[in-house]
Amino acid sequence: MAVELKKGIYWVGAIDWNLRDFHGYVTGRGATYNSYLIIDEKITLIDTVKAPFYNEMMSRISKVIDPSKINILISNHLELDHSGSILQFVRDCPQAKIYTGKMAEKGFKKYFPGVPFETVKTGDRISLGSRSIEFIETPMIHWPDSIFSYIPEEALLFSMDGFGQHIATSGRFDDEVDMHDVMAEAGKYYANLLTHLSPLISSTLKKVAELNLTIDMIAPSHGIIWRSNIPAIMEAYQRWSSGRTKKKIVIIYDTMWESTEQLAGTIADTLTEHGIETKLMKLRENHRSDVMAELLEASGVFLGSPTIHRNLFPTVADILCYMRGLKPGKKIAAAFGSYGWSGESVDLINAGLKEAGFDVMEPGVKAMFAPDENELAAVRNLAASMAERVKNG
Ligand code: FEO
Repeated sequence: MAVELKKGIYWVGAIDWNLRDFHGYVTGRGATYNSYLIIDEKITLIDTVKAPFYNEMMSRISKVIDPSKINILISNHLELDHSGSILQFVRDCPQAKIYTGKMAEKGFKKYFPGVPFETVKTGDRISLGSRSIEFIETPMIHWPDSIFSYIPEEALLFSMDGFGQHIATSGRFDDEVDMHDVMAEAGKYYANLLTHLSPLISSTLKKVAELNLTIDMIAPSHGIIWRSNIPAIMEAYQRWSSGRTKKKIVIIYDTMWESTEQLAGTIADTLTEHGIETKLMKLRENHRSDVMAELLEASGVFLGSPTIHRNLFPTVADILCYMRGLKPGKKIAAAFGSYGWSGESVDLINAGLKEAGFDVMEPGVKAMFAPDENELAAVRNLAASMAERVKNG
């Protein structure tokens, strides 16, 4: 069915209940691809859905109106979870005029050769009849092409990936679902897609705030629609984009014969004794996208690896690669790890952490074979030092 947001405006998207992998990000609660139908003199569709869900979207649209009557498609974002069914849409609704962001031009032509479209920029406005749509360029929420579409007559903002969450629910609105789950997924979404873009997101949000838009509903392209908790998600985005943290340290590691694990456990005990919120995550049991979610508001991180083949344990190399891209903020970091013969892992972690933008407490702690009392004392001291820095930070 289609769900009415406001009189004559409907959610007509798709629910991907069983999605567990979104380009390498684990989506334990599924996802939705939200598109919206506006019934006015010019019937308008805001975004499409991921290609395999096109029929689901069209079936929902058909419950309201004959889809061939759609006059306008607004493509707020070129990524294929929203634009992936544009070719099918153009086949079925060839008369619809397509608007997209100025920065989408190059990609739109490559993805959809020959499909006519018009680009829009901040301040552009189109009339739908009794309502209008204003466009706001919001680069890097989530790609450079991204735009918000705003209906002033309805105080309704279509925010595309912004304020979205990967969560499949039967309720469409924030006051119909468990907010704890929704905020956790909003944070995970931010941590895995947007962290490295925080300075740009912060300035984009400031520019949007300066427009003084009246907003009583935010309809993102993923997850639930905000109408009762708008201040909560706005405040969270300000917190995340400004890099604000709490007194929390995440210990990430992998292990071969439990020596690195013993160091990790000793660090966790020491941090807990110092009153620090602590999270211990073994990489073979915790997906990188869950690790990033835990790091979002953490002040510090320990990363541990045994040395294997004169290198890092593969899962540790993987998380370093991921963190180098996402750059989870200026947090304190330290390395630890065990070795039998050559012992490169700790130095490699230090180098990787610096590349990812961390403030690294060098040289870290190495333990040969199994940690002895001196090595355990060294790791305790390192944990205590980080705990004090976090407490005083
Ligand atoms: Fe939901 Fe950046 O696409």
